[in-house]
Amino acid sequence: MINQRSLRTSILLLLLLTSFVAGTLAATYRVTDYGAKGDGITDDTQAFTNAWRAVCLNSKEASTLLIPGGKVYLLGLTKFRGPCNHYVRVQVDGNLKRVDEVWSDDDNNWLVFINLNGITVAGAGEIDGQGASWWACKEAKTCAFLAANSLALLHVTKAQVLGLSFKNSAMMHVAVGMSVGVRISNLKITAPAESPNTDGIHVERSRHVIISDCQISTGDDCVSVSSGAKDVNISRIRCGPGHGLSIGSLGIEKSYATAEGIHVSDSTIVRTDNGVRIKTWQGATGFARDISFRNISLTEVRNPIIIDQFYCPRGGCKNETSAVQVSDVKFIGVKGTSANDMAIRLECSQSSGCHDVVMEDVDIRNAVPGEQAQAFCFNAHGKKAKVVKPDVPCLSY
Ligand SMILES: *[C@@H]1O[C@H](CO)[C@@H](O)[C@H](O)[C@H]1NC(C)=O
Ligand SMILES: *[C@@H]1O[C@H](CO)[C@@H](O)[C@H](O)[C@H]1NC(C)=O
Ligand SMILES: *[C@@H]1O[C@H](CO)[C@@H](O)[C@H](O)[C@H]1NC(C)=O
Repeated sequence: MINQRSLRTSILLLLLLTSFVAGTLAATYRVTDYGAKGDGITDDTQAFTNAWRAVCLNSKEASTLLIPGGKVYLLGLTKFRGPCNHYVRVQVDGNLKRVDEVWSDDDNNWLVFINLNGITVAGAGEIDGQGASWWACKEAKTCAFLAANSLALLHVTKAQVLGLSFKNSAMMHVAVGMSVGVRISNLKITAPAESPNTDGIHVERSRHVIISDCQISTGDDCVSVSSGAKDVNISRIRCGPGHGLSIGSLGIEKSYATAEGIHVSDSTIVRTDNGVRIKTWQGATGFARDISFRNISLTEVRNPIIIDQFYCPRGGCKNETSAVQVSDVKFIGVKGTSANDMAIRLECSQSSGCHDVVMEDVDIRNAVPGEQAQAFCFNAHGKKAKVVKPDVPCLSY
């Protein structure tokens, strides 16, 4: 027998419980409730777009777009467009896979987060760019359109990308542009060493960016920071194979290019083409300044430290008189082994040179026992302190 009082209590409890659950549901939108199958076969793009519209426009409060785990969602070009007027967390528990086709669209991004203020994309999900067919058409020089970056953050503020795994992007895995206040951490990014332009994380025209605790093995730069970047801190990156940690290329097609306040620290670079690098094209204007590389460990890196103001990957560049002005660049605590004899190359522009280059506690040995490591300077100026090995003659104590 249920007495009156306990019945009343039960109803009250039930009401409380229902309102609590309803409250949670009001702020959580599951892509599976909008038709996403997650069977790895059905194209779920429309379902994701519908779920995004709901979380972004219907919700009045901070909300979650939940991509449930244990499933693989096949997606074509998907835009997560704002503004939403409230914070959105995209919880990626399941895996995302790009529809394996070379689409003919001018938009060279796959998953695009655009015009948002307050966005987090986080979870343990894997994001598979299925880039192989695109790499093949690049190899054959038959691609009609630019390959797709896997995840792009464009015109966002207060954004985070946390914890995800990325693999085999058609182009860059994570690309940040025209954004302010971005944190990227704990990502694992992998693509074959020979895959073209598969940068791990790329930043341009953005300010106040933190990239940390990522493990990156790709066919291009692990992290690349390009024009318009200001206040970018990169730390605890494990890079390799790949092309290293790069600033640039700056000043393509004689453009005005800038990079300022870029600090790279506490990172490990293993068997890459370059270690820490600044690359600029000839004939450009602008500057690269207030840059530092601290506590970097290198293992069998082909060009451990390199400033290249004659960057010209396809050849046929003429010597020009103007250049991006490189100044205030510090290499402090950069240590390890070089796979080439030439461990340090400071090749600065003929017209302006590099100024205030500082090396301190730099110790790079030849990876081949008994062979010497060497340094080369062209128009570089600055200071050295403590140990600098191999000796860099253009810098003074
Ligand atoms: C980057 O580090 C510098 C020096 O520690 C600091 O002043 C700056 O605020 C940091 N930037 C960000 C975006 O955290
Ligand atoms: C140098 O960086 C490594 C990671 O590569 C880190 O474990 C170590 O604590 C750092 N050392 C200092 C003095 O910060
Ligand atoms: C450009 O200038 C550099 C430095 O003086 C020189 O080594 C190189 O041969 C020049 N290249 C051309 C194409 O003139």
